[in-house]
Amino acid sequence: MPSHDHVAERQHHRPIRRRLVNTHHSGKTHPLIWLAAILCTIIAIGVVIAGIVVFVGYMVIHPRIPVMSITNAHLDLLSNDYAGLLQTQLTIIVVAQNGNAKAHATFSDIRFNLSYQGQRIALMRAPPFDVPKNSSKSLNYVVRAASIPLTPQQMEEVDESWKRDVIGFDLKGSARTRWRVGPLGSVKFWCNLECQLKFHPSNGSYIHHSRCTSKSK
Ligand SMILES: *[C@@H]1O[C@H](CO)[C@@H](O)[C@H](O)[C@H]1NC(C)=O
Ligand SMILES: *[C@@H]1O[C@H](CO)[C@@H](O)[C@H](O)[C@H]1NC(C)=O
Ligand SMILES: *[C@@H]1O[C@H](CO)[C@@H](O)[C@H](O)[C@H]1NC(C)=O
Repeated sequence: MPSHDHVAERQHHRPIRRRLVNTHHSGKTHPLIWLAAILCTIIAIGVVIAGIVVFVGYMVIHPRIPVMSITNAHLDLLSNDYAGLLQTQLTIIVVAQNGNAKAHATFSDIRFNLSYQGQRIALMRAPPFDVPKNSSKSLNYVVRAASIPLTPQQMEEVDESWKRDVIGFDLKGSARTRWRVGPLGSVKFWCNLECQLKFHPSNGSYIHHSRCTSKSK
């Protein structure tokens, strides 16, 4: 029975194959095929030209991804009591920079978490804003935390920080940035900022150990 089925199938296929071969040998190409070939060629050339335009535009405009960075900070207050409550105040200066000479940039969805030893201290936010061509805008945050409950281990860590005269806070967050690239439209990116802000508890000064600047995605 299976061999019978097979034969039936072959008979069914044979005429189709023969017809295809005939078309190939006839030498006549249907005008629609010519039209399709011409259209394909035009589209291919268009794609190449568009690619060149984008590339030249990129080279001329030289777009730079807007960045956010922490330029300065200060530890205004740090106090911990025996009950394990931490009281602190920090001033943090975040700068949104648009290095594009020919394009406005917009920053939005700005959210940064400030934490100490995994314990969240504050959420820093800002409404959306524009940064004109080749300029920057700074956001000054004054973060106050009245009574952050610490675990015994975190309390020990604070004591250690006083002794070493170095304390670190973690800043993590992101912002959305959008800017125009020539007439071709706008580009959107997420700026991700993640760094540790270190201070001397004795005088509150910020330790500029490394530049805290956003990475884009
Ligand atoms: C961008 O600004 C810097 C200083 O703020 C200036 O030196 C530079 O010439 C400016 N570039 C353009 C293209 O305007
Ligand atoms: C900030 O922390 C909260 C809770 O810990 C979390 O839900 C939120 O996603 C964090 N936000 C950012 C921008 O990391
Ligand atoms: C703060 O104290 C540190 C260490 O004691 C010192 O290196 C730094 O210069 C001081 N900063 C200011 C502004 O006094």
